[in-house]
Amino acid sequence: KRPAGAPDKSLARKVTKVGVVGAGLMAGQLALLFARRLGVPVVMTDLDQDRLDKGVAYVHGEVDKLLAKGRVNSDKAARLKSLVTGSLTKDAFADADFVIEAVFEKMEVKQQVFAEVEAVVSPEAVLATNTSSLSITEMASKLKHPERVVGFHFFNPVAVLPLLEIIRGEKTDDAALATAFATAKSLKKSAVLCKDAPAFVVNRLLTLFMGEVLAAVEEGTEPEVADRAVAPLGLPMSPLLLLQLVGPAVALHVSETLHEAFPERFGVSAQLRTIVEAGKNTIFAPDFSIDPEVKKLFTGGGT
Ligand code: 3HC
Repeated sequence: KRPAGAPDKSLARKVTKVGVVGAGLMAGQLALLFARRLGVPVVMTDLDQDRLDKGVAYVHGEVDKLLAKGRVNSDKAARLKSLVTGSLTKDAFADADFVIEAVFEKMEVKQQVFAEVEAVVSPEAVLATNTSSLSITEMASKLKHPERVVGFHFFNPVAVLPLLEIIRGEKTDDAALATAFATAKSLKKSAVLCKDAPAFVVNRLLTLFMGEVLAAVEEGTEPEVADRAVAPLGLPMSPLLLLQLVGPAVALHVSETLHEAFPERFGVSAQLRTIVEAGKNTIFAPDFSIDPEVKKLFTGGGT
């Protein structure tokens, strides 16, 4: 059955090579997923060799884990490793027909990245963004071909979570959207078409939820009490650990975007801001560890 709002699949273009802009954790997870599910070459780019090497090494490390678990055989593992490569220049994207960016969550940075990508790819290549909250329409607005831009928002851990939010910008055309839906299907993700609105759907809910649990803790509720209180709702993991998994910087960014759009409805945690501004990447004290018994209360294991 065609997902609600998806155009006729006959409009989808074939994807024979994928570009991933960025070589951070999200980008690495995406590169592996595309190589594994589409079986096509995937080239990653980043600003310096060190980051690029780390990104490719992460993917190769994840392939080794799949091999160790028997999820892929040694031929497939070797093939996956050879499919995922790194390049410092975006020229390597010249023959890519699907490019996804997973760089820093700042509109100007993403617009700049897309302008650079547009300069080397064909006019039909789809430009996808894994943005958590930014406007797809605005991101596409400076391009010659804004009709090929589409939101393609994954959830962490990418290999495990089935959901994909696909977002249509004001100018996105049916061919780009159909290609996005067809690609989602090949990636074995369950795609939903979301409106181009701040933080789309899922992150609005998660931000409220994680933000309120954090607020309760900031007001003096013990983290363990908060976890015990919310676990019976059937959540996969502790909201505080989820905030950690998402990353304090990403969580802060999403709440700032939502606060700007809906100041009455979304606040920004002062403590989260202090943590991120201090360059820390954890919301927990160094000696914090979650009680294994509490962890077990969550349906996804809560690790
Ligand atoms: N990368 C790859 N695979 C991973 C992984 C990761 N980071 N983390 C876990 N996995 C895999 C494990 O390898 C394991 O696979 P296997 O079955 O092949 O061995 C499987 O996931 C289950 O892992 P575990 O047994 O270690 O752990 P749990 O059963 O405790 O599950 C969890 C862990 C999948 C993280 C689960 O707790 C969960 O689903 N949590 C909720 C996560 C969530 O809500 N994410 C959304 C975040 S919002 C977001 O990303 C949007 C952004 O814009 C902010």
